[in-house]
Formats: sequence, C-alpha cells, structure tokens
Amino acid sequence: MKNHKTLGEYIIENQKDFQYTTGELSRLLSSIKLAAKVVNHEVNKAGLVDILGNAGDTNIQGEDQQKLDIYANEAFMRTLSNREIVCGIASEEEDDFVIIEGKNRSHDNKYIVLIDPLDGSSNIDVNVSVGTIFSIYRRVTPIGTPVTKEDFLQPGNLQVAAGYVVYGTSTMLVYTTGHGVNGFTLNPALGTFYLSHPSMKFPENGNIYSINEGYYVHFPQGVKDYLKYCQEEEGDRPYSARYIGSLVSDFHRNMIKGGVYIYPTSSKAPQGKLRLLYECNPIAFLAEQAGGWASDGYKRILEIKPTELHQRVPIFVGSKNMVADAEKFMAKYPQDADY
Ligand code: AHG
Ligand code: MN
Ligand code: MN
Repeated sequence: MKNHKTLGEYIIENQKDFQYTTGELSRLLSSIKLAAKVVNHEVNKAGLVDILGNAGDTNIQGEDQQKLDIYANEAFMRTLSNREIVCGIASEEEDDFVIIEGKNRSHDNKYIVLIDPLDGSSNIDVNVSVGTIFSIYRRVTPIGTPVTKEDFLQPGNLQVAAGYVVYGTSTMLVYTTGHGVNGFTLNPALGTFYLSHPSMKFPENGNIYSINEGYYVHFPQGVKDYLKYCQEEEGDRPYSARYIGSLVSDFHRNMIKGGVYIYPTSSKAPQGKLRLLYECNPIAFLAEQAGGWASDGYKRILEIKPTELHQRVPIFVGSKNMVADAEKFMAKYPQDADY
C-alpha cells in the first residue's frame, strides 16, 4: 500500500511556511483536527442515538438549532479553548464572541477563530452530508488585553488559515494556510487523516451550477438572466444543476468537478443568507487558493470590511470563468442600496 502522509505529519512539515513560526498555528490546526474527529464520531451515530432532531431552541438569527449543532459547537469551543493558543472564538451558534483567557498570563494568546460548527444542519435528519467551516486570524488588539469585536471584524484577506470538514460518504478535512489547498481523508478504523487530495484546484471552467432555484421569483434580475444562460443550449451548455443544501458539500463537489455555487440576495433575504465571517470568508479564501474566485456578484468577497459578527452577504463562488460570467450578468443591473 502506498504510504500516505498523515495530517499530523503534514502540519509539522509545513510549519516553516507560516509567517510566524512559533508552532502555535500548528497546534491550533491539530486541535481542529481533534474536534473534527469528535464531531465525526457523533455525526456518524446520529441515526442510532437520541441526538437527532430539534433541541427546541433557536439561535440569535432565529433559526432552529438542531441537537448536533449544539454538540458540534460545544466540541469545537471546548477543544479550541483548552490549549494556550486561542484568545477568542466567534461561532454562528453563539450570540456574541467568547473571550478565552490564557492559563498563565491572561489574554496572552494570539489567534482568534470563527466557526460554523455544523453547516447544512437541515440535512442531518435525512442522512445527507454536513460540514464544519473554520476561519483563523491573528488578533489585531494588543496581546495581554481581552479581545474585542475589532479582532473579529477583519476582512477575509487577512485570514491566516481557513478550512472545512465534510462529514460525507467519507470524512475529509480540507484547509489552506495561504499556500494552496490540501484535502485529508479520515481512516475511521485508525482515527487518522491522510493526505488524499494534495494541491486541490478548481477547474477554470465547469458545467455545474448550484443554487436554490425554488426561490427563482425572489432573485435579482442579473441572477435570473444568468440562470437562463446556464440552461441555454449553446457550446457546453446547458449545465447540470446540483444543490445539496450544505454549502460545504456543494463547494467541495464543485471544487473537484468544476462549478459555481450561488446564494444571492433575494426579496426574502435582502442581504443574502450566508454569513460573511463564518461561511463566505473561509470558503472564499479556499476558493482563491484553489485557483477559483468568490464574489458578492460585484466585488471580491475577501475585500469586504465586515461591520457585524453575524453579517450576511450574497456569494458567487467557484470556477473562475463561471463566476466571471455570472458577474457580467450582474453588472447589467445597478447594485441596490446595500449591494
Ligand atoms: P447552516 O446549516 O449553518 O445554517 O447553513 C445552511 C446554509 C448552507 O450550508 C446551505 O447551502 C444553505 O444554507 C441552504 O439554504 P436554503 O435552504 O435557503 O437553500
Ligand atoms: Mn452554514
Ligand atoms: Mn451552522
């Protein structure tokens, strides 16, 4: 059998690529690896135990929290706070960011983490892939003081690392530290991630479009026109429609096969649905590192200056030429007040 590199080996070997080589980011990535295994274990037995279903609570954004949402949130919060690396965490499932105090000297840690602990949670009850998305920054406020909102409201182009875990037919951890994108597959028998997808790259063109077309009537005219273009018989079109309803899974498939994922603004969701800090920025960083592109329809996602923690933005992400085509259709119509 070919001797594949493990995620642990890979993290250590590539530590030299980081701008600041104290080993802390490596330890942070290792703690994400550990939390991913814990959540994976729970997701896999979701059909067996009474963890399925709604926890009867809603998060700050008014959405139902599934039990596994809460479990995954706690697993990541606990694992990330336990080591002396992270000084603050913001989670889609928490109302506000959480300040982590170091054990020895308070507030001494350098990194902040933003996380969507369970993405695509409406798919849990029906045995369809879900994921976790994470985004890592260095704090901007002085070390030794408590983190503030300013540390979390950094534009996506300042991320030092980002990635996702997809709990699918197999479980994969895919991440970037700004030196390309690598994918690791979990061997469940050993509990070890192996490098299975080195240097992942988006094909420049693709023939898959992923959007919730059920909301067609609510979409902006530019999106409607682009969808008609996807469906026209011309050249390599019509494209195939594929929409899982888990951003992580839709993005993962499109990165491998070539495609575009769109969650636009709509008359129902005037800012879009996906969260800039927990979903769009990390996915955009991965997309660019894999040779793809991510836009809000008009401008680069990674250059948006966030104004609030749970901010939503529209997103067009995937194969470079497909995003560029969609942007051309959007450009025919003026951006509304917010977008
Ligand atoms: P989450 O489960 O973290 O709330 O995210 C769900 C997101 C995203 O993963 C998915 O692509 C999208 O919401 C689906 O939304 P629609 O059902 O509106 O299409
Ligand atoms: Mn999500
Ligand atoms: Mn979520």
